[in-house]
Amino acid sequence: MLFKKFGAKKGQFKIVNKSIFDYKSSQKHDIVISLGVIHHTSCKEKAFDIKAQHLKDGGFLVPEIGNKAGVFQRNAQRFLLQHLSEGKEERMVSLTNELCSEYLDRAEKYGKRTRKSIIYDIYDIYVNPKTDLPSTAEVLKWFARHKLQLYSSWPPIMPAVLADSAERDPLPYQSYEKIKNILGLAEIAFLIQRDDDIDQLKALDKGAAVIMEPLEGLTSLLNNITPETRLDFGAVQKQIKACKASVNNDFNLYAPYISKLRKFLVEAEVIFKALETRELDLVKKSLNSSEFLFRGTCGLGMNWYIGHRAKKN
Ligand SMILES: C[S@@+](CC[C@H](N)C(=O)[O-])C[C@H]1O[C@@H](n2cnc3c(N)ncnc32)[C@H](O)[C@@H]1O
Repeated sequence: MLFKKFGAKKGQFKIVNKSIFDYKSSQKHDIVISLGVIHHTSCKEKAFDIKAQHLKDGGFLVPEIGNKAGVFQRNAQRFLLQHLSEGKEERMVSLTNELCSEYLDRAEKYGKRTRKSIIYDIYDIYVNPKTDLPSTAEVLKWFARHKLQLYSSWPPIMPAVLADSAERDPLPYQSYEKIKNILGLAEIAFLIQRDDDIDQLKALDKGAAVIMEPLEGLTSLLNNITPETRLDFGAVQKQIKACKASVNNDFNLYAPYISKLRKFLVEAEVIFKALETRELDLVKKSLNSSEFLFRGTCGLGMNWYIGHRAKKN
């Protein structure tokens, strides 16, 4: 029904079955997309450049591309299977069942695929000649080179706290290089992601409430002021005092992620030491005792970005 109503009719589209590097055309488009392809080509940067060169000014570029940190755990998982199976397919399948059961359970549940197809997907990716993922900073460098403003992304990579008014330009692409570490900070979460965001945020909300509740009380006292309002100075002072007491309590949104990263790094140290020995029992022991590494979602598999290039005046 949707396709009938909105889908392109015959003659309104053209399929060109070619490598991106052999595609020759002077045509530019309002929307250019690329879903999970750029990092599988022989040169990710060149593939991105070609895509961006076919974008009109005023248009949107939508690359879906994995992130080096987000995919670290899956890369490590593939390396582990390859290293221990020494490239033998049957052994790789049995080891995947034995060592990655939690990952397989989740993929089966959410991806609605059979266990066998998931195992072969892992296998396929590690025999794939190219999976070369960029960091957030690299993607933004490409954006800046093509005068692309980050319009949106999922997950968000913009800093959690921004306060310029809407009339001001949002963070301009010319500044990306200078704030690349701040814009890359979400990679910590991509790297260690284990649980659903909502569960992590619910736990953090209690800490935020300590500051937000008294602050809400203060801002409410000065809200909806009219010439008739008689300000209760005593109440204002009391509320400021409550706010002052609450900010003595150090709330840091990033602290829980840093503390998880600390544990994650210790686990990575142990597992790579075990892998170096190639002793399966040792690898199993370290895997069984890990709290973050190879647990839950095992990092983040894919990132979406939307870039916008402004029209020239
Ligand atoms: C993970 S698949 C994604 C396929 C599809 N876009 C999707 O979302 O299901 C990666 C694709 O990249 C394609 N690919 C690799 N190198 C390419 C190149 N140089 N030009 C065009 N496509 C390429 C592969 O043929 C493969 O189909």
